[in-house]
Amino acid sequence: MTTLSELSDNAAAGTAQRAGEPDTEPDSPGTEPGTETADEPRTAVPAAAAAPVLAVRGVHISDQVTDREIVHGVSFELTPGKTVGIVGESGSGKTLTCRATLGILPPHFEVSAGSIEIAGTDIATLTPQQWTALRGATISAVFQDPASYLNPSIRVGAQIAEVIRVKKGLKRREARHRAVELLQAVQLRDPELVYGQYTHELSGGMLQRVLIAAAIAADPQILIADEATTALDVTVQAEILDLLAELRQQAGLALVVVSHDLAVVAQLCDEVLVMREGEVVEQGTTSEVLHHPRHEYTRLLIAEHDQYGLEKFLAPLTPLTPQETS
Ligand SMILES: Nc1ncnc2c1ncn2[C@@H]1O[C@H](COP(=O)(O)OP(=O)(O)OP(=O)(O)O)[C@@H](O)[C@H]1O
Ligand SMILES: [Mg+2]
Repeated sequence: MTTLSELSDNAAAGTAQRAGEPDTEPDSPGTEPGTETADEPRTAVPAAAAAPVLAVRGVHISDQVTDREIVHGVSFELTPGKTVGIVGESGSGKTLTCRATLGILPPHFEVSAGSIEIAGTDIATLTPQQWTALRGATISAVFQDPASYLNPSIRVGAQIAEVIRVKKGLKRREARHRAVELLQAVQLRDPELVYGQYTHELSGGMLQRVLIAAAIAADPQILIADEATTALDVTVQAEILDLLAELRQQAGLALVVVSHDLAVVAQLCDEVLVMREGEVVEQGTTSEVLHHPRHEYTRLLIAEHDQYGLEKFLAPLTPLTPQETS
């Protein structure tokens, strides 16, 4: 059975494991479980040489109406080509953290403490016009439920071309050409055909690819994927995760991957934050957190996966035999 630790080791080596591939040795030297005690300080994630494209520093988020603090301090840094994962139970503040980073908190919510810097600029200083220029072009996002982010009455290709026209200043014909290239880049077969289709003509997996194409259309440095694969079946989910990994490698995209599924972040992320009730209860390199979980909740998440296995995630589901179901 493939464990989360093995997945993270594979991710670190840039070799995501797929169904049918042989298992690899789980532990690298020096990462034997049980060699560390909870009292020892966890080594910080090594600072990379490159300047961070995104720096989230001690961010607290509050609901101004109820005067309630919902997120109690989140910090992480993202350099080009890196991936940070945020995992945690429903309502723990993952999406609010992402929305704060994108400057789109729901009404009445505010960043009540801490700071967020995008490409060296404190977002608190941005005017609405500056935000408009930054969104899409520097920081972009893909959420769950792609259909709700696309206009059902406009051909999907034209919607991508519009992003390119507005954000990149390309002429109509060039924008169309680039949109088709992007549809190809997200591995949609027959991109010309897809360009002319409407949302209701496409499957969930295809729509999610279209949304990713739109999100990367203006060559952003940072892409936030908030539960971007949750609604998809396991095979398509694995394909989309591969696509994100490829974009990271080819375009040097920095990724924030949000999921309630530890297997998703284990596959893709260099660093992981585990959130619960607005608190980051655990944070470190993915391998460190998975090999030496310190918080009971992280252990619980890992145990769940170890108990049920990850084949559901790595391989197409095979129907259970009557003996297995009884
Ligand atoms: N628009 C909103 N109006 C009121 N409360 C909100 C709103 N958005 C989020 N909240 C509250 O803030 C808290 C954190 O929500 P958030 O959406 O960040 O959770 P999450 O970790 O993304 O959960 P999930 O895994 O279900 O997506 C929740 O208690 C939620 O009820
Ligand atoms: Mg959410």
